[in-house]
Amino acid sequence: MNYKILRYDCVESTNTLAKALAKEGACEGTVIIANKQTMGRGRLGKSFFSPSETGLYMSIILRPSLPPEKAVEITSLAAVALLRTVKKLSDGDFKIKWVNDIYKNGKKVCGILTESSITASGLEYAVLGIGVNLFAPQGGFPDEIKNIADSVFECTFNKAKKEEFTTLLLDEISLLYNDIGKNRYVDEYRENSYITGKKIFVLKGDEKIPARACEILDDYSLSVTLESGEKAVLSSGDISIRV
Ligand code: BTN
Repeated sequence: MNYKILRYDCVESTNTLAKALAKEGACEGTVIIANKQTMGRGRLGKSFFSPSETGLYMSIILRPSLPPEKAVEITSLAAVALLRTVKKLSDGDFKIKWVNDIYKNGKKVCGILTESSITASGLEYAVLGIGVNLFAPQGGFPDEIKNIADSVFECTFNKAKKEEFTTLLLDEISLLYNDIGKNRYVDEYRENSYITGKKIFVLKGDEKIPARACEILDDYSLSVTLESGEKAVLSSGDISIRV
């Protein structure tokens, strides 16, 4: 993929900006990177903590020839690309927490938010948004997330390391993107799954349903066994780990 990188100091959300640019016709490979976000967004209406410098906040405009039901592969390829990158550049037990997070030693270090525009003729564009806690923020993580969030690196902000991480991640994404739609990285995703075999809660609105995660299926859905013994397949939604 040929990247065209646009850098900003402060934006509300790189995904919001990328969607506006995609609507105006920005080409595939346009990358928005911000030093800081004032309204960084996560899945399910959650916010994404995006302080200055210590994180990577990036959105990539993609225009894949992919049936809309396979759009989940964009998130999955990004998870595998992130996993490869963190493993190459840092130490720790890095895993993919279905469906869109990277964990280090049981705490979240990266999140992925893919937003797609689907029209009658199919997938028009997708914005792949990636947020990475690279370095520990000054003053630490806010109280609400300090027990569940961590950073990829132990050290404080280092510009060269951030650049190296960004370049390698973009390379890994480009490599995997060549094979999108061909189911080539589902095994790598599966082998590095954090939740397989774990006791989890399936979160449905305010409801927390106890279950056990069984396996990631070929279409990246998750098969679970509920406490009643009943089996279910989750294609999206959220889960939390039971401790
Ligand atoms: C999640 O944790 O559910 C996903 C978090 C995704 C955060 C990234 S940061 C860059 C891009 N812009 C956003 O507003 N969100 C994504």
